[in-house]
This record gives sequence, C-alpha cells and structure tokens, in this order.
Amino acid sequence: MENERSEVLQSKRVATLTLDDGRSIEFPILSGTLGPDVIDIRTLSKLGVFTYDPAFFATSSCTSNITFIDGDAGLLYYRGYPIEQLAEKSDFLEVCYLLLNGELPTAEQKAGFNNSITHHTMVHDQLARFFNGFRRDAHPMAVMVGVVGALSAFYHDSLDINNPQHREISAQRLLAKVPTIAAMTHKYSVGEPFIYPKNKFGFVENFMYMMFATPAEDYVPNPVLVRALERILILHADHEQNASTSTVRLAGSSGANPFACIASGIAALWGPAHGGANEAALKMLEEIGDTSRVPEYVQGVKDKKYKLMGFGHRVYKNMDPRAAVMRQTCYEVLKELNLENDKLFALAMELEKTALNDPYFIERKLYPNVDFYSGIVLRAIGIPINMFTVIFAVARTIGWVSQWNEMIADAEHKIGRPRQLYRGAVRRDYLPMIKR
Ligand code: CMC
Repeated sequence: MENERSEVLQSKRVATLTLDDGRSIEFPILSGTLGPDVIDIRTLSKLGVFTYDPAFFATSSCTSNITFIDGDAGLLYYRGYPIEQLAEKSDFLEVCYLLLNGELPTAEQKAGFNNSITHHTMVHDQLARFFNGFRRDAHPMAVMVGVVGALSAFYHDSLDINNPQHREISAQRLLAKVPTIAAMTHKYSVGEPFIYPKNKFGFVENFMYMMFATPAEDYVPNPVLVRALERILILHADHEQNASTSTVRLAGSSGANPFACIASGIAALWGPAHGGANEAALKMLEEIGDTSRVPEYVQGVKDKKYKLMGFGHRVYKNMDPRAAVMRQTCYEVLKELNLENDKLFALAMELEKTALNDPYFIERKLYPNVDFYSGIVLRAIGIPINMFTVIFAVARTIGWVSQWNEMIADAEHKIGRPRQLYRGAVRRDYLPMIKR
C-alpha cells in the first residue's frame, strides 16, 4: 500500500502560480487511481501566502484508499466496490470488514469478525448510569455525543493509538457498542427499561431487538424490515471526507483517543445540513401534509424562504446513487407493510416529480439525496423521528473509525491546522474603562 501511495504521489506534471509581484512557484500535480487530479500546494507557504477555501470547495484534505465518489456521474464505491452491488449482495458487517481492512473477508475471517463484534455488544454496567444525568426529553443525539464520548473513560488498557492492536480493538468496540448505546438512548427517552443484546441475533436483528423488545414482550424481527435497515446502514457506512468524517480526522490528528474522536463526529453529524437531514426531511413532509400544498411549498423554496430537505449535495450533481437504492427499498418496505398508499410517500413522490421538472432545481443540479427516502423507510420500520440521525450515526461509525485508523496508520500524518484570512482590528492599545 505504501508503494502504491508513493507512486500516486510522485508526479512530473506541474502547475505554476505567479503572484502579482512576479514571484512564481511550481506545484506537483498528483493523480489518484480514480477522480480528478489535485495540485499539491503544501510548499506555497514558503512565499508567505496561503490559499483561501473555507468550505473546502476545492481542497483535498488527505489521501485515502477507502471511498470514491464521482458526483457528476453519480458513483459511490467502497474500496472499489459499487454501492449498488454491496447493498444488494452484502451485509452490513461484511461491509464494515471491507471498509476497515480493505478487502472482502474470507468465510473464516467473516466468522471471526462477526463473532468478535457480537461479543463486544454489551456495555460496561457503569455506563448505564450516565443516562440518568440526562432529561428524558433530551434529543437522542445529545445523549449519544455524551455517552459515546464517555466510553473513553472505560478502556484505559487499549488507548495507545500507535499500537495497531489497540486501534483494532477500539474499532471493534465502537462498532459493537454504538448500536447498544443508540438503543439505550431510545429506551431512556420513552421510559422503558434497557434491553441487553442477545448473541443469537445478527447485528441488525439485535439492534431492532434492543430497540423494540420489552421485558414483558419479545420482539421477532420481520426479515424484510431487517433487510431494509441493513441497506440503510450499508448506504450510510462511509462517504469519504464529509463534514463529520473530516471532524473525526481533525480531532484524531491531535492524538485524541478514538472514542472522543467518534463523539466529535456524532456532534458534527447532528446538523440539519448533514445527518440531521433525514429527520428534517420527514418533518418537512409532515409539515406540507398534503400533495395539494406541494406547489406552494416549492415556491417557498424558490423564494429562498427555506431549503428542500433531502435535496442537493455538495458532491453529487446527479442522482445520489444511494437515493436510487433507498427509493427501491421504500417500495419494498411499504409493500410488505401494506402501506403502498402511504400519504407521506405519495407526497414525497409528488415533491420529487415537481422539483425534478422545475428549472430552479435543474439549473442548480439539485437531486434527491439518500435522506429524502430513508426517513420514510425508518418511519415505516417504527423508528421514532428523533432517532433518525442516531441511526445514521450507528451506520457511519464504521466509516469514521476506518478513516481515523487509516490516518493514524499513515506514518506521515500530522496535526491538522488550517490558517485564516484575518480581517479583525489592527494593533491597538488597551484603553482604561473610563476612556471607552
Ligand atoms: N433546497 C433549495 N435550494 C438549494 C438546496 C436545497 N436543498 N440545496 C442547495 N440549494 C441551492 C442554494 O440555495 C444555492 O442557490 P444559489 O446559487 O441561488 O445561491 C445552490 O443551490 C447551491 O447550493 P449550496 O448551498 O452552495 O450547496 P452546498 O454544496 O454548500 O450545500 C447541502 C450542500 C447538502 C448542504 C445543501 O444542498 C442542503 O442544505 N441540502 C438540504 C439538506 C440535506 O438534504 N442534506 C443532506 C445531504 S446528504 C446526507 C449527508 O451526506 O449528510
């Protein structure tokens, strides 16, 4: 992998930048295995200037071998495998193994990995006490940030981030325990007792069991719904250098422990422009309420009063490939539950049709993203709206931890430290209170 990487990074092509004072500098142009070339500007600071790209419209923040997106063509690959193939043929834990280790597992590797994850799903009993510190009506994402961060306090024996075995065990602990914490978060908010994991279940079944069983009543997961949730997890597992992943990498670049880093990712995911979009999209559909109100609502979007949630993406300027899979899953789930005439789904279809035929959306290349449909599926499964972004966090944990692991394993990694364009006051002297 190292050789591969240095080949990719060695380049004879250059880009030349000339400043208005006549000084110029040459930068190597680097090519990846797929995707656009990048200009390596790391030596620019020698001239005493920096680049300015606050929202990272034109900046690659790292080298990665994990996930590839072509936003114009609508392609998403995990370790080279198209997302459509993984969603159809694989299962979530196999995808996790792939993201973390780079290759699909053999039967033996898969059995070992599944066994290890299954046997790490319980959390330390002391962790359950953290929940009592939260109000019952706290948003589950607030609880997730706190409780996942608190995991840092439990595993002092394996927090040496420079030790690959410690990183592996931390990755497995996170992958196994985040769903347990997520289900506890739900149980706490509805006032039901926590349900402990059951090792006889697969990963997704177990999560549904912890969410929906009670001590009074067992829960038998419906295989169609298990498959639908499995797809949601696969589709959300990684998405290259998005806001939350970049947050995890930046936090991790300082040497912070993986549990704290993942908690920072959960915080970044919460926002409505990112992982909070599934919750916001469903609330939007509920607010519109009826297909007759679609034209009026779309006009409000065009008048910039609000955004159409579940639409648009920084990278995809074509159909989000995850959205196509999710749309199909939506049909399957609603059919299974005899909800084919579901009012919100009909509304979503009408909204999609209206937007896709409107010049405002066509000109800006705004298409439905995965979260336009995932909320409808999650709601049909019985997941409460305030848990939607938590489900995203359960899925994305593997992406965060794989990206964090890749960064720490890179011997050349350094602390991330952007610079700024300062526009504040110039030097001035302190004034005593009486003169202000
Ligand atoms: N509804 C209406 N107009 C929009 C939307 C939208 N959802 N998204 C972008 N635009 C407009 C935007 O107002 C701008 O118009 P103008 O050129 O007239 O100023 C133009 O399209 C370009 O948008 P932008 O804000 O510069 O795009 P961005 O790359 O900064 O933002 C985004 C990307 C995803 C934050 C944004 O599209 C958005 O807020 N979408 C709604 C929230 C959402 O669904 N997020 C989930 C993303 S997928 C899940 C994930 O990866 O987390």
